[in-house]
Amino acid sequence: MLAAPLDGRVTVIAGAGNGMGRAAALLFGQAGAEVALVARTKARLEATAAQIADTTGRAPLVLAADLVDPEAAGSVTEAVLARWGRLDAVLVNAGTSGYFDLDLPATPREVEDEMIDLNRRTAVNTARATLPALGERSGSLILVAAAPKTLLWPNTMYAATKSAVLGLTTGLAREWWPRVRVNSISPGSIRRVRVAGHIAPIEGPLDRGGRMDDVMHFGGEPADIAHAALFLAGPASSWITGVDLPVDGGAHLRW
Ligand SMILES: NC(=O)c1ccc[n+]([C@@H]2O[C@H](COP(=O)([O-])OP(=O)(O)OC[C@H]3O[C@@H](n4cnc5c(N)ncnc54)[C@H](OP(=O)(O)O)[C@@H]3O)[C@@H](O)[C@H]2O)c1
Repeated sequence: MLAAPLDGRVTVIAGAGNGMGRAAALLFGQAGAEVALVARTKARLEATAAQIADTTGRAPLVLAADLVDPEAAGSVTEAVLARWGRLDAVLVNAGTSGYFDLDLPATPREVEDEMIDLNRRTAVNTARATLPALGERSGSLILVAAAPKTLLWPNTMYAATKSAVLGLTTGLAREWWPRVRVNSISPGSIRRVRVAGHIAPIEGPLDRGGRMDDVMHFGGEPADIAHAALFLAGPASSWITGVDLPVDGGAHLRW
């Protein structure tokens, strides 16, 4: 791989405030990219931006936006084009893992709406807002779905909205070929553990020798997803479109 595979390219990371989005933003910056950081919480984006500026000498664009709102998504593209005049790659990491052990009859309408908003609408809105600009640059759009095992956990609305992301990936790859490559990443369990029906970050180092069938206690690092995103954003994947890349430590082999 080139030392700076994104040198001179302009990128958007949607959901860049923490976790794997933040890791991808740092990696894209180190790989030579200009980076626009998007999420709802400005303070977390500014912390990521400061770290990128420190390590690369280039100032990221910080854009506080709720991507559930199509107009806010549109304003992200406008701001990026106003600053750099081009857009080469977009990672749509914004989303939620939500609640577990919620079968459909037990799922309140608010949770259903939250899943649809954060996992499906953010992806649709960001794609719709950025694809025309990406199409001018033979760009790359990367969505974030979820590993098959995650989809089998008893949270049907989560599974339904992440399955929609997989459908969006193949549909958009057909729609936009050959102007934009569209792929998705399906992370396995990343630094999360089940706590009273919800999920929370795992503190301390992860045990990569953990049991594969106990995926709630076996996880990847945000950087694992960031490296996959870097590959899909850059020239090394220029002949790849319409695929979903599982980054899950092999958990998909068990299900
Ligand atoms: N963690 C895992 O084990 C795992 C496994 C499989 C798939 N995934 C998927 O990977 C993605 C990231 O997960 P994560 O664990 O890194 O989540 P996270 O730590 O909660 O980060 C999500 C990011 O998205 C932003 N975001 C959420 N809603 C948004 C909205 N409406 N508009 C703009 N930004 C928004 C959040 O910032 P604000 O809240 O400030 O907006 C945050 O920066 C999600 O799509 C998740 O479903 C995660």
